[in-house]
Amino acid sequence: MSNLKLIEAAAQDRACAYVPYSKFSVGAALLTRSGKVFSGCNVENISLGLTICAERAAVTAAIAEGQGDFVAIAVVTDSHEPAVPCGGCRQVLAESNPSIKIMTSTTQEFSLADLLPRPKLGILE
Ligand code: THU
Repeated sequence: MSNLKLIEAAAQDRACAYVPYSKFSVGAALLTRSGKVFSGCNVENISLGLTICAERAAVTAAIAEGQGDFVAIAVVTDSHEPAVPCGGCRQVLAESNPSIKIMTSTTQEFSLADLLPRPKLGILE
């Protein structure tokens, strides 16, 4: 699975985003260790607070298929800035892999370990 293919999968699902409030469409695609790809898009709600980010939609889709071991996630928006997962999504991604590779449509790459160090410190310990 090339980086480009994962970005393409995210871009494809971005077209399904339901964003009547922000008009900011996000697509995400997760790569599992076994080579499978699961994508998601943001789904907004009139309550705003019930909005689901693209990244968490992708995680949910993967887990529902019994796939929870992630190695990379691509996030695509139409912004010039690299789009990276929000704080909440970082915490959710850390559940599977605290150093998952984060790929963006601007080709910049990050490690979750840099964006959210020590995500489990002090929780349930
Ligand atoms: N959003 C995502 O889908 N992922 C992120 O990492 C950041 C934000 C969505 C939520 C909302 O629908 C819109 O982008 C604006 O915040």
